[in-house]
Amino acid sequence: MNLPDHIAIIMDGNGRWANKRFLSKNAGHKAGAEALRKLSERMNGQFKYLTVYAFSTENWSRPQDEVSGLMSLLGDYIQQYIDDSKKNNMRMNVIGDLSRLEARLREKILYLTELTKNHPGMCVSIAINYGGRDEIIRAVKRACADVLSGTLSPEAINQQSFSSYLDTDGIPDPDLIIRTSGEMRLSNFLTWQSAYAELYNCPKLWPDFTYDDLIEAVNIYMGRERRFGKR
Ligand code: IPE
Ligand code: IPE
Ligand code: MG
Repeated sequence: MNLPDHIAIIMDGNGRWANKRFLSKNAGHKAGAEALRKLSERMNGQFKYLTVYAFSTENWSRPQDEVSGLMSLLGDYIQQYIDDSKKNNMRMNVIGDLSRLEARLREKILYLTELTKNHPGMCVSIAINYGGRDEIIRAVKRACADVLSGTLSPEAINQQSFSSYLDTDGIPDPDLIIRTSGEMRLSNFLTWQSAYAELYNCPKLWPDFTYDDLIEAVNIYMGRERRFGKR
């Protein structure tokens, strides 16, 4: 089988990584952000699309100091890519409902997306305030608005046209979804897009996940047969 075009990762295990070291949860998230930076830089040039789950619609129910720590970490992470945008050729994208984010973070995200939209490198999508079900509901609302305004006819709604209302418009479905930390669930990640993704689970906690671990996942993926329901 060919290399996967699109790899998606559920970066899980930052909390347990921090607990093992008697560190704060936010120290775990900081180590996780560092792991992501290193990994994406190694992957750039080898793979076309990377989508990572950074903050789910359910993660708001974590303790307030963890949520605010995560938001400020995401702001720093985005800022660093803005500062590096001249020497870094990755195309940076964010999926999820940005309306609930603080205006300053949202503006940074939109600025980075605009700044890198023509970059030729790997397309990196960061899922922030993302939930698969929430994304589908938002897409349905937009499609309904187009039906009401007469720009979309209900008969024209099919899997392909509906996909264009999702946050991932223009990005192919993930070929491979990796989850770290041993949990065997999708936790509301890419609910629509994961229909035929190959799943891979790695027992390592996210801050410990390296490029070599990614290559191992890719090798296992390449040894599989994807049938898509056919004989
Ligand atoms: C994943 O790590 C990062 C986020 C959900 C933001 P966790 O914080 O979920 O780590 P564990 O699952 O508690 O170890
Ligand atoms: C999924 O991890 C969300 C992210 C990695 C951002 P969680 O740790 O929030 O998922 P559950 O609660 O174990 O399902
Ligand atoms: Mg977790």
